[in-house]
Amino acid sequence: VRYIANRSSGKQGHAVAAAAAIAGARVTLISGPVVIADPAGVDVVHVETAAEMLDAVRRALPADVGIFAAAVADWRVANAGHEKIKKTADARTPSLSLVENPDILKTIAAKGPQRPGLVVGFAAETERVTDYAAKKLAAKSADWIVANDVSPESGVMGGDRNSVHLVSAGAIESWPEMSKSEVATRLIERIAEKLAAHRSEAAR
Ligand code: CTP
Repeated sequence: VRYIANRSSGKQGHAVAAAAAIAGARVTLISGPVVIADPAGVDVVHVETAAEMLDAVRRALPADVGIFAAAVADWRVANAGHEKIKKTADARTPSLSLVENPDILKTIAAKGPQRPGLVVGFAAETERVTDYAAKKLAAKSADWIVANDVSPESGVMGGDRNSVHLVSAGAIESWPEMSKSEVATRLIERIAEKLAAHRSEAAR
């Protein structure tokens, strides 16, 4: 009835899954609660909590590429009630204790046999977008971070357009504003090029 969440339409993540399927990839999309329809050609797992999402990601491995676009809630309520928390007659505001949720990207990107060959995270920022994204790249051991400005003026939250920066170790590429579906297609093209380069290196 009452819950804590991060705001997200899921449009960008769903667009990435759809673009990967169109490019011929076998895709598992693990989606939190959204109102948009499941994309075609993709296996979809619906989850509600960060713990369920981490579990579902682990079950979907191994994978050549992991793309982490979910706006995972950073905290959850320590003692979630099984019944609705009612307002009391003395109208005292309840206080909630929060505990930190697992960081799915950081957990999966850590070195190990199950780590996808290419790990792409997202970063939602409202200021110093590329600085914070570069910090996340290092802190979470991702290979790339797609950074976007989600401040209210940007219209990105819930909207259909996005303007992103592709941040990798030592390079920042700023893309012009385009639709979320164009961002997805371009990202998948870049990923396909990277995979092809990995393969030709491995064959040498
Ligand atoms: N992420 C995750 N698990 C979490 C929090 C974030 O996997 N519990 C992933 C997101 O899917 C995204 C990246 O980490 O790929 C960055 O998420 P973002 O919300 O921008 O940042 P946070 O790590 O939550 O840090 P902060 O809220 O301090 O900006």
